[in-house]
Amino acid sequence: MYSFKTIVITVMMTTILAACESGDQKKETTADKKVTKVAWGETDGKQVDLFTLTNANGVQVKITNYGGTVTSWVTPDKNGNKSSVILGFDSLSGYLAKPPYFGALIGRYGNRIGKGVFKIDTATYHLATNNGANHLHGGNKGFDKVVWDATPADNSASLTLTYLSKDGEEGYPGNLKITVVYTLTDDNELLIDYNAETDKPTVVNLTNHSYFNLTGDVSNTILNHQLQISADKYTPVDTGLIPTGELNEVKGTPFDFLQPHKIGERIASVDGGYDHNFVLSRKGTNLELVATLSDSVSGRKLEVFTTEPGLQFYSGNFLDGKFKTSDGKPINQHTALCLETQHFPDSPNKPNFPSTLLKPGEKYHTVTKYKVSLLKQ
Ligand code: BGC
Repeated sequence: MYSFKTIVITVMMTTILAACESGDQKKETTADKKVTKVAWGETDGKQVDLFTLTNANGVQVKITNYGGTVTSWVTPDKNGNKSSVILGFDSLSGYLAKPPYFGALIGRYGNRIGKGVFKIDTATYHLATNNGANHLHGGNKGFDKVVWDATPADNSASLTLTYLSKDGEEGYPGNLKITVVYTLTDDNELLIDYNAETDKPTVVNLTNHSYFNLTGDVSNTILNHQLQISADKYTPVDTGLIPTGELNEVKGTPFDFLQPHKIGERIASVDGGYDHNFVLSRKGTNLELVATLSDSVSGRKLEVFTTEPGLQFYSGNFLDGKFKTSDGKPINQHTALCLETQHFPDSPNKPNFPSTLLKPGEKYHTVTKYKVSLLKQ
């Protein structure tokens, strides 16, 4: 028989142990959180936050709801040294100074629309012209300069961003509801899932404008990176970087990246450097590997997968040292590059290009995945 005292002590011990356990569990869930948030300032009268997505390998991607911008992606190099492969700032003020779209979500239309004019049926629309005579990346205040609503996932390294672009914003017709979901997987992939719906016919072309330097340091040029793009055609451009409408073969030109080439190898024969849309030789609309970038010094590799028909390869030609990293390094020409998955520039004025028209009742949905890994030694 147990004495009354023994029973009381046993019950007390069990209660204390249970309390300790639940305390530990609480601590564990906080420490293991896959998305954390810190306040990052305010603009347009709205709160801006910085979210950190962490995967099972401890790899972290930081995203702010200002412009839906990826501010850093810290991965180890072949020696285990960690640095960000994406160009970005560690405070909101860096972005409010209007850098050229570092890491941002781009819309309503990624890249250029000639003269900022297009037609849908009989209606002509005039957009903001913010790049010489042309419209670029959504206009004066594109999706890169607005505060998105952000909802972190409970149990995964995922962040959902939503934004309502009002009818007439930057000249575009229709209220456009956009949802973009960023997910960092345990395979070190950043998945970007783009969705949109409209209440009037409009044009949509969403992308992400991350600048990569696989060395993790803008003191190093990207001209020694090797690039492979699965595209047997590209869209040549005029002097304002508007496609002429032709689809030219890459064969025998500096645009042939079907086999890997050093970016610097043939850049001197491309007027102004690479800033062209590649016509991906993909079949269908599945998520497919379309480009691979690698750097033998850091041993890092970036793979780009997309459902989109095009890829803008921009070799950072207009970077001129005006912007500096948060630790004071000038961001010079060719110290970072973009691989923007997209529909082709100026599609609304090019009937032979895949259409970017979105009508009420239709669902815009595209997916892009960037994967960072180490090259096999
Ligand atoms: C465009 C470039 C532009 C850059 C930054 C790229 O997508 O193709 O011409 O300078 O974005 O704005």
